[in-house]
Parts: sequence; structure tokens; C-alpha cells
Amino acid sequence: MTAVKINTGEGASRISRHLYGHFAEHLGRCIYEGLWVGKDSPIPNTDGIRDDVVAALKKLDIPVLRWPGGCFADEYHWKDGIGRPESRKRMINTHWGGVVENNHFGTHEFFRLCELLECEPYICGNVGSGTVQEMSEWVEYMTFDGESPMANWRAVNGREEPWKLKYFGVGNENWGCGGNMRPEYYADLYRRYQTYARNYGDNKLYRIAGGANVDDYNWTEVLMREAGRFMDGLSLHSYTIPGSWEEKRYALGFDTAEWFETMKKSLHMDELITRHSAIMDKYDPEKRVGLIIDEWGTWFLTEPGTNPGFLYQQNTLRDALVAGIHLNIFQNHSSRVHMANLAQMVNVLQALILTEGEQMLLTPTYHVFEMYKVHQDNELLAIDFTSPGYAYGEELIPQVSVSASRDEAGIIYISLCNMSHADEAGLAIELAGAAGEVSGKLLTHSDLNAHNTFGQPEAVAPVAFGGASFKDGVLECRLPPASVVVLTLR
Ligand code: AHR
Repeated sequence: MTAVKINTGEGASRISRHLYGHFAEHLGRCIYEGLWVGKDSPIPNTDGIRDDVVAALKKLDIPVLRWPGGCFADEYHWKDGIGRPESRKRMINTHWGGVVENNHFGTHEFFRLCELLECEPYICGNVGSGTVQEMSEWVEYMTFDGESPMANWRAVNGREEPWKLKYFGVGNENWGCGGNMRPEYYADLYRRYQTYARNYGDNKLYRIAGGANVDDYNWTEVLMREAGRFMDGLSLHSYTIPGSWEEKRYALGFDTAEWFETMKKSLHMDELITRHSAIMDKYDPEKRVGLIIDEWGTWFLTEPGTNPGFLYQQNTLRDALVAGIHLNIFQNHSSRVHMANLAQMVNVLQALILTEGEQMLLTPTYHVFEMYKVHQDNELLAIDFTSPGYAYGEELIPQVSVSASRDEAGIIYISLCNMSHADEAGLAIELAGAAGEVSGKLLTHSDLNAHNTFGQPEAVAPVAFGGASFKDGVLECRLPPASVVVLTLR
């Protein structure tokens, strides 16, 4: 048994519930079909938004939803998406599949979706191809309370009251699809655009600057140095891509070597956060500026026979492990990581939900978010632990990932991922002074490629975990290979 020591004294930091955030882009079948079917659809909906998908998502206690992109955000002109739907501009979604975007899902519909999900909106503005005035007017349209050209227009379009909007992104991937800029140039643009994204009344924006691509530490350095004092958050995007960006792999049909590679690449998130945080610490030792990992998740080749521009992929037990590992890492860095948003919510990349017409299924990733939601807003408990190794060929990585928290009622939650495809992991977790009974949930399968289909929607689903016992302050458990477990000590 490997010894783990959980410090049950004072919490190390607070785990913001926003680490459990999501992202929905105008990409493939995420917004259209996945979330929005329109009011006249035979699929049951509320104001055009699918009831089945909303009901499933509500069970996750989603804290925040990022929209409208992604790369789409820097080509999106918000005025195209308001007013009578039939007179909204039809445009080409040049970035994603070249399909017609009819703008039926716009600002009002997005806020309605957030209302139904009971989550906070996070809007990403257009720097790449939009003007300062356009961005400024969008913020005015959404949040100004009183008489103003944009507020009056909002009222004409059916919404008298301003919405509450906190999270506002000033562009997306401005080193790439958001304008191919140099960090120095974007830092200046960021300073300028954010100036006119005003706080109206008591609506105070949390301004998020477009951050680095993976390990571009220079981007973080320049942004923090030149614009750190003008921002509340700085983003980071990093996807888990077995193979390489140029030679991706499929979501299904992988072998144990690729499983190992995926685990190893997931763990890389820890190094990325550590190194970006070290740069941020230099300019912001108080940790005022949040690291906002507003795009993360697996990226595979699209399912055969689907539009390559739609990024539709299946989701296996491997994705569940990737999710569990990332969420543990985010939690363990919660003093700097204030938000994270999985890419994406429905039908795109590492989705929570897949739909086909009126059918819907929950992916293994969905189940991990459901199991882990108990951590939201808890205090993080520090852990002293050296994981046993997971060897594959010449390579060695840790076998177990762990994070622990305590809620206001004193209940302790421990989330564990056993990355080994073959070996179980025995742990003896010391929890000095803790008392109570242990229970748990387990997500695993004997087939690493196991996934849910419309024919078999519950092939991978959580079950009660009977492999843990608690006695004299020590919690002993045996994690099956390739598993995600969440333990509760109450
Ligand atoms: O999530 C898909 C795309 O990945 C986003 O549009 C973009 O920001 C990133 O490159």
C-alpha cells in the first residue's frame, strides 16, 4: 500500500467552482442541434433550447459557460445576432466547416441558455476583426441600465433589464486564429480594447486577456509585464493530443501505448500551470490575476464520415481519465487557477453530451464532472504523496493522481485517478483527526476503449465503490486499473 497523507488542518486555498466551467462555440453541432433546435422544432425545447440537454447539464451544477468562441469569437459581429430571427444576417462560418450561420442563436438566446442552466455567462469579444467601438457597444448593450442607444435597442429587442455579466474575454487565441499577433502588439491592443469595455452601474467586469498557447511562456511574460495591471485574468489553452497536431489519432481504436501517451500528456498540464504561474508570480505575487484555462480537453481526428470542420469525436474511458487528471491538477493549483472551461459542451471535441436528432447520450467525461462536482467551492486540502510509478517501455510516469477538499459541513472528498491500464493501486490515506464513514463512486471498464453509444448509452457509467474502508484515521482503498474514484468521508 502506498502512503498518502492528507493535511486535515487549515485548507490550502479555495477551489473556485469556476474550475468546473464549460465552453460552447458556434462550431459544428455544438450550438445548433446540440443546444439550440429553434422554437418550432419537434424536439422538446424551451424558447428554442433543448430540454433534454439542459436537464442533463443542470445535474452538473455548471458554474459558468464561455461563448461564442473560440476562433469564431474573433469573426463574430454581435449585431448580426439580435432582432427578429428571420431578418438576421446569414453568414459563412469560415473557420468551422464553411457552413451557413443564420445567427438564430445570439446574445439574447445565450443569456436565456445561462438562465436555464443557472450558470454565469462568460462572453468572449472580438479583437481580431472587430472594432473597439463594436466591443464597447456590446458591453453597453448587455449591461447598461438606463437610457442609452444600446440599452434602448436592447429594450426594443424585448429585454428591458440589463443582464449581469462578469466574465468578459478580450479576444481569443490572438497569437493564432484571433489575429496572428505578436504578444507586444496584442498587449497594447488589449489595453486599448479593455478601456472601453466599461463597468456600468454595479456591473463590474472581470476582464480576461487572451493568453498563451500551451508552453509559450514568452507570451505570458510579455502580457503580464505590459498589461498585467489592466487584467483580472489571463487565459491559457492546452489540448491533450495523442500523436501530434499534424498527425492526430482517432478517439476509438487506440492501444495501450497510446493510452499511456495520453496519460502522460494530460499530466503535462501540471508543468504548464507551474511554469506560467511562476511568471505570473513575478508580476503579481498577490495572485490577484487568475490563470483562466478556458480551453482544455482531448483533440482527436473527427469520427469517420463526419464533417472534418465539425470536430465531432467519440469519448471513451480514456477521456474520463483525462478529465479526472486535469480537474485534480486544476484543484491542486487553485490559488492561481481561477477558472477552467472544458472544450466543448456538446458534440464537439471532449464533449459532455452527444446528440443525434432527438437522441442524447452522456459521455464518460460527463460522469467525471458529475462525480467531481462535490469539490466545488470547497477548501483544498494539501496532500503529501509520492505516487507509485506507471512504467511503459522505457518511460515512467506517476500511476495515481489525487486531490482532496473539505466542504463547509466538514465532509471530506478525495478524487483519485489510477492511470495504469493494467495494475490496481493500493493506497493507505492518513487523515489525522478525521472521523466518519466512507463511501465512493467508481467509473471504470474492462475495455479501455469502452464508450457510450445511442444503442448502449450506459456502457460506461458510475457505480458505487466498495473498495474503501476507514479505520483509526486511515482510509484504505484499492483502485482498479484505468479508473476514476471519488471518495466521501462523512
Ligand atoms: O475548441 C476549438 C478551437 O480550439 C477554438 O475555436 C480555438 O480557440 C482553439 O484553437
